[in-house]
Amino acid sequence: MLVEPAHSLKGEVNIPGDKSISHRSVMFGALADGLTEVTHFLQGADCLSTISCFRKLGIEIENTPERILIHGRGLHGLRPYDSMLDVGNSGTTIRLISGILAGQTFPSALNGDSSIQKRPMKRIITPLREMGADIFGLNGNDCAPLKINGSPLHAVDYQSPVASAQVKSCVLLAGLYADGPTSVTEPSLSRNHTELMLSSFGARLSSHDTTATIWPDPLLKGQKIEVPGDISSAAYFIAAGLLVPNSELLIRNVGINPTRDGILRAAMAMNADITKLNIHETSGEPVCDLLVKSSELTGTTISGDLIPALIDEIPVIAVMAAYAQGTTIIKDAAELKVKESNRIETIVTNLKAMGADVTAEDDGMVIHGGKQLHHALIHTCQDHRIAMSFAVAALCSQGGAEIADAECVDISYPNFYRDFKKLKCL
Ligand code: S3P
Repeated sequence: MLVEPAHSLKGEVNIPGDKSISHRSVMFGALADGLTEVTHFLQGADCLSTISCFRKLGIEIENTPERILIHGRGLHGLRPYDSMLDVGNSGTTIRLISGILAGQTFPSALNGDSSIQKRPMKRIITPLREMGADIFGLNGNDCAPLKINGSPLHAVDYQSPVASAQVKSCVLLAGLYADGPTSVTEPSLSRNHTELMLSSFGARLSSHDTTATIWPDPLLKGQKIEVPGDISSAAYFIAAGLLVPNSELLIRNVGINPTRDGILRAAMAMNADITKLNIHETSGEPVCDLLVKSSELTGTTISGDLIPALIDEIPVIAVMAAYAQGTTIIKDAAELKVKESNRIETIVTNLKAMGADVTAEDDGMVIHGGKQLHHALIHTCQDHRIAMSFAVAALCSQGGAEIADAECVDISYPNFYRDFKKLKCL
């Protein structure tokens, strides 16, 4: 797909539902008693994979354009599925569902696409085995396909070596089936949607600093959930509104949970003109509208505890940095290497192809901004966030950019190109 340069972006955009919260609404709804009703659910391929897995585990789920209805069967109501559960491209699905399946009384097997089969599962296998789970990679390499023989689980205090909400959530979900309170401590706080949402379903949970603790065997009750707009999807409009001259965008309904709002903090440090309007709460999550105006961005350093709060936005932040004046340093972000693609490689290769001055590091990259970028063919490696980030890069480049496998945006934002086109002023 050819994305052409834009002279100006004007108007409003309504951001689709948050991916992390959409996944969890189906999972927790399945484990609750009674009906869970979800509005503004993200109809992206990843969340549809979660729906499909839980249907195979015996949960009735009605998916209509207005709402999702999940007919929960309680903590012990899942049914065995005698074939492979397919998680598609979704790391959140495979890692969270593994925690749930570890504590069942039946065996399960999980697989996904070629990207999922390369992603590290040792990070969940290790804590789950500490809890007494029988889980292993069927190819002997700690990757999917995974086999899980459900078994009784012990409570643990797990010190996670990575700040990962997927690892934390996997262990907390296994903790629902353990014989006492289970804790997870992480090096920096990752997104806390599991803690917030499971509490609202009725679980007993506590959070202090970077430790979350869950008590087993709660009575979970079906909920009404309105999913906030996904700040990770808003990120592309934030970046485009800042970078394209003469732009003013109102991005509506954006979740600004402090464990997710790192892009706003980074953008402010880069001299961005962003105003939060209409701040309110939706289903226990802070939400606002963002007014974004074209800005002369400057370089910054992004590191440490900020990284988990913007990990999925680093591709588009790197694009912002390439157009900013001065140097941007991104470090402490080795996790980028184990996302849907090796994002240090995919960001650096594609920025270089467009003429940017960027160097890959083992845990990030250094970007000397301010060069005029030019047309290139973007190799997305089927990574949705690379496709969307470089569509933004194309808007300000000489000659735009050709995005290969452009349809991979379906994973998290099926209407991405359509929504962008509406804002372009010719
Ligand atoms: C997610 C957690 C993050 C994030 C992913 C969604 C979640 O992954 O990158 O897109 O919903 O818990 P990690 O937990 O591996 O950092």
